[in-house]
This record gives sequence, C-alpha cells and structure tokens, in this order.
Amino acid sequence: MGSITAAADAVIETIDLSAYLSSDDPIVRKATADRLVQALHKQGGCGLVGHGLTLKAIHEALTRSKEFFDLPLDQKQTINHPEGILPHRGYSGVSREKIRVYTEDELQSMSGELGATAKKAMDWKEHYDIGSDYEPEHHNRWIDKALLPGFQPFMSDFITQLEQLHTNVLNAILLGLEVDPISADYFRGLHTHHNSGIRLLHYPSMRESEIDRTSTTWCPIHTDFTTFTFLIQDENQGLEIEDRTNKTPNTFVAANPSIPDRLWLTIGDFGEIWTNGYLPASRHRVVIPAPLPGSGTDMTSNRYSIPYFLNPRHDGILEPLGTGKPATMPRDRYKKMKVRDHIEFRMKYQYTDPTK
Ligand SMILES: [Fe+2]
Repeated sequence: MGSITAAADAVIETIDLSAYLSSDDPIVRKATADRLVQALHKQGGCGLVGHGLTLKAIHEALTRSKEFFDLPLDQKQTINHPEGILPHRGYSGVSREKIRVYTEDELQSMSGELGATAKKAMDWKEHYDIGSDYEPEHHNRWIDKALLPGFQPFMSDFITQLEQLHTNVLNAILLGLEVDPISADYFRGLHTHHNSGIRLLHYPSMRESEIDRTSTTWCPIHTDFTTFTFLIQDENQGLEIEDRTNKTPNTFVAANPSIPDRLWLTIGDFGEIWTNGYLPASRHRVVIPAPLPGSGTDMTSNRYSIPYFLNPRHDGILEPLGTGKPATMPRDRYKKMKVRDHIEFRMKYQYTDPTK
C-alpha cells in the first residue's frame, strides 16, 4: 500500500488562481500560470483555490448529490446508465444488495455470500454521471423533477460553471507551458465540444472492523483517462495523491479537506501525452476514512465526492505538442493514437493496479 505522509500540504501545492482570473496585468497572470504549471510538473496534481466557484455552490452540489442518493433504489434505477461506455450518462449501482446502506445490526447478522459481497469494499459505491446539456449527441438521464425539485437546473448550471473553470485552467496551463499560439489554439479546440461532465459519487459507510486496510481501498491506484480532472470532496478524507518526489515507491499523501472550497486538480492520461510527459498523469486512489473520532461507532462515514472529467473530442489525435516546455522532454515516448482508442484500451483494464 505504500506510506502516507500526514503533511500533504507540504508536498502537494495549492495554487490560488484569483490573481490569474482577476488581473489584467500579463505579468501577474503569467506568474500564476507558471506556478500552476510548476506544481503540476512536479506532482501531476495540485490543490486549487480562488477558482471562482463559490463555497455555496460547492456545498449545494454535495447536498443535492446526497439527496439524490437518499432516494429509494427503484427510483434511482429509473435513470440507469445505458449500455456502452461513451459517454457516461445516468445512474450506476452495482446491485440492489451492494448499494443498500446497511445498519450495524444488519451487517452483524449477514452471513454467507451476501455478507461477503456486501463487505467487499471495492464494489462499495454508486454513482450518477451527468454531462453538459450542450452536448448534442448524448442526452442526460434526469431524475423525475417531482422527486428532486431544482436538481436538474442546478446541476446543468453547475456543469456550465465547471466548463468555464476548465477553460480558464486550460488557458493558464497553456500560458505556463509557453506553447506557440497555433498549438495552443489546436489544443483549446479539442476541448470546446462539451464532452466533459461530472460524476456524483457516494461511498456508503462500512463497518471498520470488517475492513482489511492492508489490501482494501474504495478505489485502487489509477490515473484518469482525461486531460485533467477536478475533484470536489466533502469533509471526509478519502483522496490520496502519489508523492512523485518521494523515492519510496507508492507513497501517497492525503488530499485533505481542511480548506472547504479547495478543489483538487489532477492531470490525466491525455494531459500527460499532449504535454509530452511535462505534466505527468497523477496516480491517485481513494481510501476508506476511519470512523470519526469520538463518534462512538464502528461505522465509517458516508463519503460524497464529485469529480469533473475534462474530456477532449473523442476523434482528437493524441500526439505530444512539439513546442514550449513539452518540447524539452525526450521525444517518441508516446504512440500517436485517437482519443477514443485510448479510452477503449483503458476501459478494458479500468481500475486494475498499474503497479502489479
Ligand atoms: Fe480518478
């Protein structure tokens, strides 16, 4: 499992974007862009504050997500994820048994196959994928308005706000990478087709005494197949990002929730390939938080998180940008291929541990 460094903030930097977003001074904007790119070059991920999303919007997104997952299973299943992988839309529960939140008594009385399955942490999550309403080909699967009034307009608007943020961050990264204007325009153009979306995630609580922490996580070590990902998480610790500067392999640091409006930005596979490895894909995982101290219970917390996946056009070509900082990296490390082909390749092996 590797080790965990408590002082995450000493290792994974948090970048304040406010000067970049609000200043007209190109020197100030470039300085922030450089800090962002430096942090991502070093670790493949960083914290983000001053990003323009309000704490109120972040809280509301998490609250509405919880309200969705609190619905009875049969209502959530009315918007089940359709067959196929591109793109993700709708609700995915693993099975009726696995996504139920069991009481302590129920867990205690479970036996045989059901008990074993229910306690298998790897499957212990449910999620709901929502894309942009401006993406013309694939339609969202919205829950009945009467069940969750205001849910749909809020989430649609929230995704639009995240799209604006991804555009700002993409521009800051391009500025910091110092790629030429033609390459920058090409790269930007790969990300203007509303292919991105959010995943509402719920990890139900588990019995601590049933968890084998030497081998179990909520989500094993992986990289995302995105250009980059923003992660919003609630107050329960879960995300851990690899400390690439540590010589001990598989050393992870907790992306801690101590700053309530901090997002976590992690570079994905496409970001790494396009920048020729200058911005490495972040290896990360999600671990099960321990029960809250003093809570007097053996049950871990429910955890809610919302990743926003920045996806390029699926017919885009993956090929390193040959200018600016990406051009300083060794050549020919990445095979030229279509975005869609890489996604299909990765889907075959999703969430297998790349270290094994
Ligand atoms: Fe991930």
